[in-house]
Amino acid sequence: MDTMTRLAALAAECMESLWPDTEGLPAAEEIRGLLAVPPDPSMGDYAFPCFRLARPLRTAPPRIAEAMCAAWKREDVASVQPVNGYMNFFLNRVNFAAEIMSALQAQGDRYGASDLGKGKTVCLDYSSINIAKRFHIGHLSTTMIGHSLCRIYGFLGYTTVGINHLGDWGTQFGKMICAYKKWGTREGIEAGGLTEMTRLYVRFEAEAENDPALEDEGRAWFKKIEDGDPEALEIFRWFKEITLKEAMRVYDLLGVSFDSYAGESFYIDKMEPVIQDLRDKGLLTQSEGAWVVDLTEDKMPPCLILKKDGATIYATRDITAAIYRQNTYHFDKCLYVVAYQQDLHFRQIFRVLEKMGFPWAKDCVHVSFGMVSFDGEALATRKGHVVLLEDLLNQAVSKAREIIEEKSPNLENKDEVARQVGIGAVIYTDLSANRIKDINFQWDRALNFDGESGPYVQYTHARCCSVLRKAPDFSGVTPDWAALSDDEAQALLRLIGRFPDVIREAAEKYEPSMITRAVTDIAQAYNKYYYEHRILDGEPSLAAARVALTDAARSVIRTGLWLIGIEAPERM
Ligand code: ARG
Repeated sequence: MDTMTRLAALAAECMESLWPDTEGLPAAEEIRGLLAVPPDPSMGDYAFPCFRLARPLRTAPPRIAEAMCAAWKREDVASVQPVNGYMNFFLNRVNFAAEIMSALQAQGDRYGASDLGKGKTVCLDYSSINIAKRFHIGHLSTTMIGHSLCRIYGFLGYTTVGINHLGDWGTQFGKMICAYKKWGTREGIEAGGLTEMTRLYVRFEAEAENDPALEDEGRAWFKKIEDGDPEALEIFRWFKEITLKEAMRVYDLLGVSFDSYAGESFYIDKMEPVIQDLRDKGLLTQSEGAWVVDLTEDKMPPCLILKKDGATIYATRDITAAIYRQNTYHFDKCLYVVAYQQDLHFRQIFRVLEKMGFPWAKDCVHVSFGMVSFDGEALATRKGHVVLLEDLLNQAVSKAREIIEEKSPNLENKDEVARQVGIGAVIYTDLSANRIKDINFQWDRALNFDGESGPYVQYTHARCCSVLRKAPDFSGVTPDWAALSDDEAQALLRLIGRFPDVIREAAEKYEPSMITRAVTDIAQAYNKYYYEHRILDGEPSLAAARVALTDAARSVIRTGLWLIGIEAPERM
């Protein structure tokens, strides 16, 4: 429990002991919301404004604060002082330090983990790339937010299922094959990979503008895939293999993996019963020859299920996939980490699932996010100027390599550290702001070792490790937590104490950036502490306490970075 929650609970207890029969007094939770941090630390660490109690008690706030302070019995947690209607709390700093430090020492690197999610399953649909398309920077957010949420939920004891819902079905694959047959060669594609595939596809689109017969040919090839024609299937599988091989290189760089690659084509033979079910439930209506689920009541356009020619679409496959996931994994939540542009699509399919009578439809959540641009340019949309994620990542690594060369010429494993720092810088930027905000990627900021950046947090972690390497063996010494009563240590301890709550909140709000924020705050607080205090000097019992605090900061920063998918080198 974080400090404020605890103080609020104790204040509520104190209030109830004084006025057990009064109605309309705030509960602990409300008090928690009212607690404030006084602007001037000499006024206390926290303050409870008693004004809210004036009405139910029909008493002036200063009298109330005085009465509460007089009745306060928990000096072990905090001493109190009434000031102008405020009940001011001064934490018992030594006890507070002892409490946080013993929690850390008991849990070690599992500090902040819990079994909150024991027996519960969360499905996470993320990354979900499209076959025959390159992995561009637009896929970074879905990949990293999804990966981070997997780790966060896993750390809280949930079983997680990471699903890469591949975009591997649709008429475009017929066109691809057609283009390949006309203008491509096996060697060309083997050598050029997705770049060559993209070139062929672009040519198809261009030529089809003047030659409508080409479209028909493309459609015919897609029909062949659908009908299981061996040649079409073989080429299609091969395209898929090439796409995945290239994607895998990016996933390896990012340290991301999946439990399932069941994409759109996986559901092809599973849609029929779902469509029948929709029909049986009277949900399908015909509209201009197509079959749709009417959503007028819900103020949404109809959800298209079957096109005029009887073909299924993206939505049909998503509805089928949701049902499949529920039947297979019995999820308690199914998260879709997909850009905000698909907001309507998800509202429609969730509503259709609800209309079908699935009570779990409410457990499906669209975790949307904004756009990534690069030095102000929206990349994914600009023709001929798509920033490929792999290039970006490799560039980040080589830039990090240069900085490391300059800063730490004697470092042993420079290549390894450059990889960790370069990739970390990109991931940090991606997860640094509220996910719905657009992100503008800038090299100077991402790689600024002194600013709010991945390298800065990693550097702080390495600094903690370096202090710990230099520290003598304190294993026989009992740390004296009184050494941690200064303002800097207390500020750090408060952040560490809150960390487990941050993880829970990040899970609740599907917001990895809350962890990024927390880990940055902790790094800043540790650096402040580091500059103000001589950690290894003085009495062993005092030095042991400061070293333990350093170890606590190290451990929490490492966990925090891990939760957002960033590695923590021990030297850099
Ligand atoms: N492949 C899609 C795209 O790149 C994203 C799929 C998201 N997941 C889903 N179940 N619809 O736009």
